[in-house]
Amino acid sequence: MTNKDELKERILKLIRQYGEEYHGRKPFEPGDRIGCAGRVYGGEELVALADSALEFWLTAGRYTEEFERKFAGYIGAKYCAFVNSGSSANLLAFMALTSPLLGERALRRGDEIITVAAGFPTTVAPIVQFGATPVFVDITIPQYNIDVTQLEAALSPRTKAVMLAHTLGNPFNVKAVREFCRKYKLWLIEDNCDALGSEYGGRRTGIFGDLATSSFYPAHHITTGEGGAVYTSQPLLAQIIRSMRDWGRDCMCAPGQDDLCGHRFERQFGELPQGYDHKYVYSHFGYNLKATDMQAAIGVAQMAKLEGFITARKRNFALLYAALEPLQDKLILPEACPDSEPVWFGFPITCREGVSRKRIVTYLEKHNIQTRMLFAGNLLRQPCMRGVEFRAIGGLPGTEAVMNHLFWLGIYPGLEEKAIAYMAEKLSEALRLA
Ligand SMILES: Cc1ncc(COP(=O)(O)O)c(C=O)c1O
Repeated sequence: MTNKDELKERILKLIRQYGEEYHGRKPFEPGDRIGCAGRVYGGEELVALADSALEFWLTAGRYTEEFERKFAGYIGAKYCAFVNSGSSANLLAFMALTSPLLGERALRRGDEIITVAAGFPTTVAPIVQFGATPVFVDITIPQYNIDVTQLEAALSPRTKAVMLAHTLGNPFNVKAVREFCRKYKLWLIEDNCDALGSEYGGRRTGIFGDLATSSFYPAHHITTGEGGAVYTSQPLLAQIIRSMRDWGRDCMCAPGQDDLCGHRFERQFGELPQGYDHKYVYSHFGYNLKATDMQAAIGVAQMAKLEGFITARKRNFALLYAALEPLQDKLILPEACPDSEPVWFGFPITCREGVSRKRIVTYLEKHNIQTRMLFAGNLLRQPCMRGVEFRAIGGLPGTEAVMNHLFWLGIYPGLEEKAIAYMAEKLSEALRLA
């Protein structure tokens, strides 16, 4: 072993020890903070991060390549592009569909995109930012996903795509949505940010759309700090995604790589001089949405733990469900779509008539139990919708109910059985007082 390797080994050994000693979790005691989500990590993530830091490649490199390959393999998609957030992934997925390389099928300003208003705003943001029109369909309770019986009513000659999230990890009715998209030749973007590992019809979500996205923000099923991914099995879409992620360029060489194809100075592009450097040929007006190799290194370490995380999430969901079952006269508990196996992001609860959400969440928060709304609630009521052109199918009563009566609790893998029991106990107390 060289001095360099030996030194690195010593450094990484110390870092692992530090991670285990100072980043471990202490057992839950009643009264401790119960988060709605959180990072679950250990020495392995710190070692991977330090290894990448010692290499000092910084931008997308070997860890990014490994993460993209492992992630695509896990989902069952052919291509994956690692990006700097789930919101960037949504932006990139949507903008990919505006590429001139798609010819007649490319999205244009004024096209209509079917989506829902009960969810996270950046599922809808790219539609509005591009100048397409969102068409909002209601959701059903207690699945909190699109009411597929409204799809036909949402259709118009301008409809070009459907862009939907699997709400809080619960797969939407993939069969109905895909049939609708196939029938009318619409694109489908699957926002899989909250649903990593969830299954529909025995297959992982994220492979049903033309494109799908993930988020690796700390609250998610795995984390890279900031981070996200776009994936697809269609080579042309993968090529467009790469181009738009990496400044819009035409060349597919990785950062730091030159002339992979061997024809760098030999081709004719647009009206550029013959042989103009392919590295500086732009087939799109793109972005730079790449993440760093340090983030990817953490992602690789997290991927190795994903199955364990999924088991823990499922266990926590089942424990909380069982503990809250006796309270169903006051609370509506969540329900999975038929033929699906969710890996829930959180545990959504809708208060029945006469039960005050405000009193419950105030009581829980007072007892150090974090609560969350379903993100934007009803996006149509948010200040950002001012002046935005849209269509909505009916009055969206389900979405309104979510905005007014829903909250969700954490079930992330860092929560132990005792914490789940404590949460249920406090919720039960809150109901007695509410
Ligand atoms: C459904 C959904 N889509 C997109 C995002 C955005 O991800 P990010 O926070 O990584 O930008 C989130 C964030 O939690 C989300 O819940």
